[in-house]
Formats: sequence, structure tokens, C-alpha cells
Amino acid sequence: MTSSLELFRTVEGEIATLMADHRERREHWYHHEVVPWELGRNYVDEPWDESQCTLSPEVRTALHVNLLTEDNLPYYHARLATCFPADSPMANWGRLWTAEEGQHAIAMRSYLLVSRNCNPKELEDERMTVVERGWRTALEDPIDIFVYTSAQELATRISHRNAGAHADDETAFNLMKKIAADENHHFIFYKGVVTAMLKEDPSQVITSMWRTLADFEMPGTTIPRFVRRSIGMAKLGIYNLRIHADKVVSPLLREWQIDQLGGLTADAAEAQDNLMELPSKLIEAAELFEARMEKTERRSSRTSA
Ligand SMILES: [Fe+2]
Ligand SMILES: [Fe+2]
Repeated sequence: MTSSLELFRTVEGEIATLMADHRERREHWYHHEVVPWELGRNYVDEPWDESQCTLSPEVRTALHVNLLTEDNLPYYHARLATCFPADSPMANWGRLWTAEEGQHAIAMRSYLLVSRNCNPKELEDERMTVVERGWRTALEDPIDIFVYTSAQELATRISHRNAGAHADDETAFNLMKKIAADENHHFIFYKGVVTAMLKEDPSQVITSMWRTLADFEMPGTTIPRFVRRSIGMAKLGIYNLRIHADKVVSPLLREWQIDQLGGLTADAAEAQDNLMELPSKLIEAAELFEARMEKTERRSSRTSA
């Protein structure tokens, strides 16, 4: 069996092609054309007050969490920059990807500040906390990185898109749609690399998939009150286990035709079985969560009645 790095080296030509395709396909956009600057007012003369917000508290939380996740870009860049040889096309991709990702936090923060849909002090204090905490990951294997980024970009696309859709505000919708479109282009790149690797060594890639997707975690877990906030986002349908199963894991398994791969090693065949069972396991966990939420809501409506 080839090492992960050797396998990565065999698909470098494909990586260069996928990057050229990405440049061709992605439409560049400018956040200054989307942010409603005409709403901007001086925070010193007119301090922030929650009554100025036009979005629901749940949607504001989702945008706040998604923005802080984007704010940790230096650590994501560092991970990509230190995992691949300096002479590989991934060095070029890492820089391009970082430049594109950079606009997401700038655009979301500008929107939230001019529209007064964030508590500006809390947002800045939490940005400091999150960036100081950094982001540590066990991801080191090059194959794991491509599997993780495929799932993470797709998940982020959905979370941004849903946050915009739930905002009930045309500007927020348009902004989050543009960011989600970028995430989709990133997703297409990363899953393309995985597809190329699968052709070379399906056994190695499929074991990486199981390793990476079994305990998949989004990179925002260091955000203060992350669990409470993500429960709110789950309840609202911005991102939850059911969405993760139906819109991320299942489409990836179909895209990579995991059920049809043959001639696998014993370990890889076991990983294949595990992967094919993963969506139903996630749905079972989603049902438990939903039942628990329903019970809590019933109890709180009884107490408030
Ligand atoms: Fe992003
Ligand atoms: Fe992205």
C-alpha cells in the first residue's frame, strides 16, 4: 500500500486541473456591492441596543456563530499550508482558497455591523476569544484532509445558505447566497481530489473516509456557548444531524459511489459497511434529539400556561 503522501503525489496533475477549473467557474464578487452601507450609523453617538435589530435572535445567533467560524481562517490556512510539500499545487490552492475565504468574514461582519444585527462588543470580544483559543485538529493525513474539507465545505455551504434563507431579509439572503456559492466551489474542488484518489487506491481512501466521517465535527466548537448556540441552530433547521445525514453524508457517499467499490482490503470492506450504515445511524441520533427537544418544549409550554 502506498503512503498517503505518495497517493497525494499521484493526483497532483488532477489537483492542478481542478484548480484551473475552479478559477474558470467561480464568479468573483465584491462585498462592497452587497453590504447596505446606507444603513450605517455612528456607534459612539448612537450606541447599540437590541431593539435596533431587524433579524430574529435565532438567525442572529446563526450568523454570529458562522462568522466566528470564518474568523478562525488563520488556523485553517496553517493546517493546509503545513500538510503539503511547498512545491505541490496545493501550495497554490491554499493561497487562493485563503484569499477567497478571507472575504467571507469581512462581508458578514460588515453586514452585521451596518445593519446593527449583532452586539458589536460581544462579537469583537468573542472574536478575540476564539482566535486566541485557536483551532487544533488531529487531521494530519493528506487523504483525511481532503475528505474532511469535502464534508466541511458542503456543510458550511448549507449552514450559510440556510442562515440567509431563515433571515427573512433580502440583503442577508443575497449575501449568504454569495458566500454559500463560494463554499460550493470549494466543495467541488476538494471532493474532486478525493474522487481522483479513490481511482488510484480505493482501499486507502475508504478507510480514511470512515476515520474522518465517523466523528465529524465542524471547526466552530471553540466558540463560547457553542453547544447551546448550535442547539438553537439545530432547532431552527439551519444545521442539525438530520441535515448532516441527508445533505452531507448521503450525497457524498453517492457522489463517490461507495457502495459500488470492489476489490477492497478486509479493513476497507469493513469501513465500506460502516460508511453505508452511517446515514441511518445519524438519523437515529437526530430522532432522539428531536424527541428530546419536543419533550422540553412541551414541558416549558405547560409551565408557562
Ligand atoms: Fe467561508
Ligand atoms: Fe470554503
